[in-house]
Amino acid sequence: MACSAERKPHVLPLLTWFLLWWWSTCVHGEATNNTLRPGDTLKARGEAKLYSEKGNYCMYFNPISDGESEAILYIYDQKDLWAVWIANRDQPVDINSAVLSLNHSGVLKIESQHGEIILFSPPQAINNTVATLLDTGSFVLQELHPNGSAIGVLWETFDFPADTLLPGMKLGVNHKTGHKWSLVSLLSKYVPTPGPFRLEWEHETRQLKIKRGEKLYWAAGEKEMKHILGEAYHQIVFVSNENEAYITLRSSEEELTKWTLLSTGQVINRNGGDVARADQCYGYKTDEGCQKWEDLPSCRNSGDAFELKQGYANFDLRMTRDEANSSYGINDCQAICWRDCNCVGFTHLYNNETGCTFFLWNTTKGTNIASEGDKFYMLVKSNHHKSTEKWIWAIVAIGATILIICLSLLCHRALRKRKYALEELKAKRMGIENEDLEASNRSSYAEKLEVFLKDEHDKVFKYASIVEATNDFSSENKLGQGGFGPVYKGILPTMQEVAVKKLSKSSRQGLLEFKNELTVISKLQHTNLVQLLGYCIHEDERILVYEYMPNKSLDFILFDCTQNQLLDWNKRFSIIEGIAQGLLYLHKYSRHRIIHRDLKASNILLDANMNPKISDFGIAKMFTQQDSESNTTRIVGTYGYMSPEYAMEGVFSTKSDVYSFGVLLFEIVSGKRNNSFYTDERQLNLVGHTWELWKEGEVLKLVDPSLNDSFSEDEVLRCVHAGLLCVEENADDRPSISNIVSMLANKSKVTTVPKKPAYYVRTKVLGEETSTRDFGLDSTHENSLYVSST
Ligand SMILES: *[C@@H]1O[C@H](CO)[C@@H](O)[C@H](O)[C@H]1NC(C)=O
Ligand SMILES: *[C@@H]1O[C@H](CO)[C@@H](O)[C@H](O)[C@H]1NC(C)=O
Ligand SMILES: *[C@@H]1O[C@H](CO)[C@@H](O)[C@H](O)[C@H]1NC(C)=O
Ligand SMILES: *[C@@H]1O[C@H](CO)[C@@H](O)[C@H](O)[C@H]1NC(C)=O
Ligand SMILES: *[C@@H]1O[C@H](CO)[C@@H](O)[C@H](O)[C@H]1NC(C)=O
Ligand SMILES: *[C@@H]1O[C@H](CO)[C@@H](O)[C@H](O)[C@H]1NC(C)=O
Ligand SMILES: *[C@@H]1O[C@H](CO)[C@@H](O)[C@H](O)[C@H]1NC(C)=O
Repeated sequence: MACSAERKPHVLPLLTWFLLWWWSTCVHGEATNNTLRPGDTLKARGEAKLYSEKGNYCMYFNPISDGESEAILYIYDQKDLWAVWIANRDQPVDINSAVLSLNHSGVLKIESQHGEIILFSPPQAINNTVATLLDTGSFVLQELHPNGSAIGVLWETFDFPADTLLPGMKLGVNHKTGHKWSLVSLLSKYVPTPGPFRLEWEHETRQLKIKRGEKLYWAAGEKEMKHILGEAYHQIVFVSNENEAYITLRSSEEELTKWTLLSTGQVINRNGGDVARADQCYGYKTDEGCQKWEDLPSCRNSGDAFELKQGYANFDLRMTRDEANSSYGINDCQAICWRDCNCVGFTHLYNNETGCTFFLWNTTKGTNIASEGDKFYMLVKSNHHKSTEKWIWAIVAIGATILIICLSLLCHRALRKRKYALEELKAKRMGIENEDLEASNRSSYAEKLEVFLKDEHDKVFKYASIVEATNDFSSENKLGQGGFGPVYKGILPTMQEVAVKKLSKSSRQGLLEFKNELTVISKLQHTNLVQLLGYCIHEDERILVYEYMPNKSLDFILFDCTQNQLLDWNKRFSIIEGIAQGLLYLHKYSRHRIIHRDLKASNILLDANMNPKISDFGIAKMFTQQDSESNTTRIVGTYGYMSPEYAMEGVFSTKSDVYSFGVLLFEIVSGKRNNSFYTDERQLNLVGHTWELWKEGEVLKLVDPSLNDSFSEDEVLRCVHAGLLCVEENADDRPSISNIVSMLANKSKVTTVPKKPAYYVRTKVLGEETSTRDFGLDSTHENSLYVSST
């Protein structure tokens, strides 16, 4: 009977939700532990962390990237979560077996099944030592006096800086030991391997220097520094005595000065402001500390420089060159491009910002700068044109610009003359937007051009053929009603079955959705994502054509008393895995990071073999890999599937999709909708209900009775466990989708204990709930009230 109630979700009343608020204590909880004693270990796997006494700094192993099996030991500044020290930069260790330990002969080391890395090897005589993480950010090994107090520093991380200089750290040389202190940049923002740049203080000449390999990029003597460094100069203390010569940063009570050498060669003060800009040195310029080089490429001029741009670079992919070597960081790409006279720009190739893609000069079709899109570097030429070659280049560039302007004018005319024949669709494609959309800051020009320039002629359908395929949009062919318009089944002349989504006219949102879906989905290809076959624009009609999914959507089958018989446990589990794979592709392996934002059962389509395909990218957001989080004032999505931070603050990230995925997991296991209610005394939704069952150790009670007890207990437990981690209140606590994929695949035993999730409790009935199948309940979250509870 429970089932029959859920078959009519459309008449469920619309509710005001009260969110149970549960503060997770993410900062160090119990007694702080800042010390390793002989015999102690800090494990890479698990939650083990050392915190400095006041909690300013924290030391732990972190995987090299989401879901990876290798880890690196870091000390993080707790305020901004930037790493201030990195132990094993170029030697990641196995996350399952690695431990940091201090042994009884005072050896501090990282051990894993693959061997050991010694951080400090002391005189053998000392057998009583402690290693402490201090509130200065240093991790120090000290000898312990028999009376219990620490004496003498045997070793400290401050002697082995990574890319960051904190007050108390030195940059210079120890005359006695010959030890030099210098900073070395990371390879990329995501790869801590030593990068090409080094910042050092040369005491003989009393110069601060930035070198790339052996080449001097930037230098400033004590006198010039005052002028070049500006504010930052006053942060420096110069020390020189018979033992040491170094500079160090002044510490101040109110704000800690921190310098970081970035992988571009730039030195920044992390509290704001530049210190040195070696990234702007090309060997010609000699101002602002830049140094001259001997070996300059003949095709470059003084003043030429690379500029960081964002938008859509319309390069013909066949005429770009990839350097698939992940030991190249972005600055290596820059150096190679600078020397190659055909190269006009570059970007990184891999998501971790390594490898290079070069743009070759005679391949540019134009570059559109937009507030969205890829980030890339373009060569900006100075005004000195010495050779004729450069004149030609300039003429070509001007010619191209004029051509582009002409094309876009043409496009506007085409938009107005709608009576033009279908054959002119190609021109009309540029008219996707109308004027009122232009106002939106989605840089319409760039997107138009992108759509236009893409080689996608085969993707345009003639309106007439769509009318024929769908039997003139007959009601027999209608498959359903999506949020933005009806969906029809069609049969192409080739006998291929297709689904035709007709976006409602005059819907502003529909237009946005159309454009968005087109740009997002045309970039994607994965077996677990629905495939866009093409589109059509005819007068006011905007039509998207997809592959046909004979089994409709997951909600049709899952929540139906008879249909659900089609889904045995194995099918359900493989659907779960398929969705996870599709999501993994969106979040991680496609060239862009894509956040779906409306993941729910009705957006999971099923093909003839019940393979799941994620659909509906109308409100998906596309990012370059470096942005991981965004903010919006337009909160669209479906209540019950939306993560609390998105519903309340409009903050969304890949972790918001993870939340929705968790809700889906419970729905698939239980065969019930999240927005139905369970238990009598407290009207909990499915997430709350699952949590209650978990606490009582009764998780198996969640399983859909229609499965008749034929399911794998182990798989169900793993799904529910993973699901509970997905719906955790705090986005940072939720696993990444790659973690989930490996949890589901049983690659790693899931040991993290879920915290109480964010869920809803029914309190008051207000009115009719609109169908959850309807797209985009433009949230009115102001109406909701969020309360704390224990
Ligand atoms: C401090 O943490 C280390 C590493 O996790 C552990 O081995 C040690 O037992 C802890 N000491 C105390 C007093 O909790
Ligand atoms: C401490 O570790 C070092 C290096 O692995 C090893 O040589 C030494 O025997 C160890 N000392 C003890 C007491 O285990
Ligand atoms: C270690 O210290 C104890 C006293 O704390 C001392 O008796 C012992 O000889 C020391 N061992 C070594 C190898 O130094
Ligand atoms: C322990 O001994 C050291 C060295 O003799 C001395 O400086 C320190 O004050 C003593 N600490 C305590 C707590 O007795
Ligand atoms: C990648 O680049 C590095 C640094 O230039 C070089 O040492 C290495 O051989 C290259 N690897 C490949 C596979 O080309
Ligand atoms: C960066 O990504 C590339 C491609 O995915 C991979 O081959 C390489 O190992 C990654 N580098 C690091 C240090 O993770
Ligand atoms: C691009 O330029 C290179 C060298 O300048 C030339 O060899 C190549 O043929 C050009 N390609 C095209 C498509 O013009």
